[in-house]
Amino acid sequence: MIKIENLNFSYKDNSEENEIKSTQALNNLNLSIKEGEFVAILGHNGSGKSTLAKLLNGQIFPTKGDILICGMNTKDEKKIWDIREKCSMVFQNPDNQMVATTVENEVAFGPENLQVKNPELRERVDEAIKLVGMENYKKRSPSALSGGQKQRVSIAGVIAMLSDCIIFDEPTAMLDPQGRNDVMEIIHTLNKKYKKTVVHITHYMEEAALADRIIVLNKGEKALEGSAREVFSKVKEMKDLGLTVPQVTEIAYELEKEGYNFEKLPLNIEEFLELV
Ligand SMILES: Nc1ncnc2c1ncn2[C@@H]1O[C@H](COP(=O)(O)OP(=O)(O)OP(=O)(O)O)[C@@H](O)[C@H]1O
Ligand SMILES: [Mg+2]
Repeated sequence: MIKIENLNFSYKDNSEENEIKSTQALNNLNLSIKEGEFVAILGHNGSGKSTLAKLLNGQIFPTKGDILICGMNTKDEKKIWDIREKCSMVFQNPDNQMVATTVENEVAFGPENLQVKNPELRERVDEAIKLVGMENYKKRSPSALSGGQKQRVSIAGVIAMLSDCIIFDEPTAMLDPQGRNDVMEIIHTLNKKYKKTVVHITHYMEEAALADRIIVLNKGEKALEGSAREVFSKVKEMKDLGLTVPQVTEIAYELEKEGYNFEKLPLNIEEFLELV
């Protein structure tokens, strides 16, 4: 689905007179993501996660190297709309994404841009709204919704575009625990039931623990990669990268130092209880 080859990206900042500064946000990154995979991306602030998301969605383009989305190079201008249709994006702040006056118009915005016409448009919108559990809010103004509800509407928008791959850039960062759970449940359903490829950028280790694979970025480079269990068993490395591991994993890790022996490091409470 996604192939990243020797990717480099620098932001050019020529705001200061006579001096062109550039920030290297990604450095020689290689990565492949398979169809149907659920990949979490972790990394300290400024490690390049959002830059990577924008590159995958064709909002910015590699300084060096290539990104192929289903074989289409994001540098190929003729393919840019196909790429954005295949691989769409949900951002952290739902307010920045809302453009329409009603929930149903909001959800229709993406597919309309892709020239989808009625009756298919209506069907897609209704189905997407149902999938995120917002059918009772169709005629409401998005501005009158809670953060979690707004984020569900944004997700319905990308569902209605029928994108095969959805990139979530910290979609739960601004939500309360209930909103976070709702959004995570929808993301999970999209991956497991609807077979969408998911790239989930997050600062919540418990969310990353649900992924098939975790990639940890540090200063624009891949620092760690593996299954949740592989990555989270590297407690010291994660801490050195300014990150944590799920709370239960850390407790088990500390208990091991005290002589307690776990068969494997638990990733959630259920596993922890089974192992003690
Ligand atoms: N528009 C921009 N212009 C110049 N530099 C930028 C711009 N956006 C990001 N950067 C720089 O690029 C680097 C990577 O930023 P990026 O936003 O990708 O990090 P991130 O991993 O998403 O961080 P966070 O966890 O805070 O969201 C940082 O050093 C940042 O300061
Ligand atoms: Mg970011």
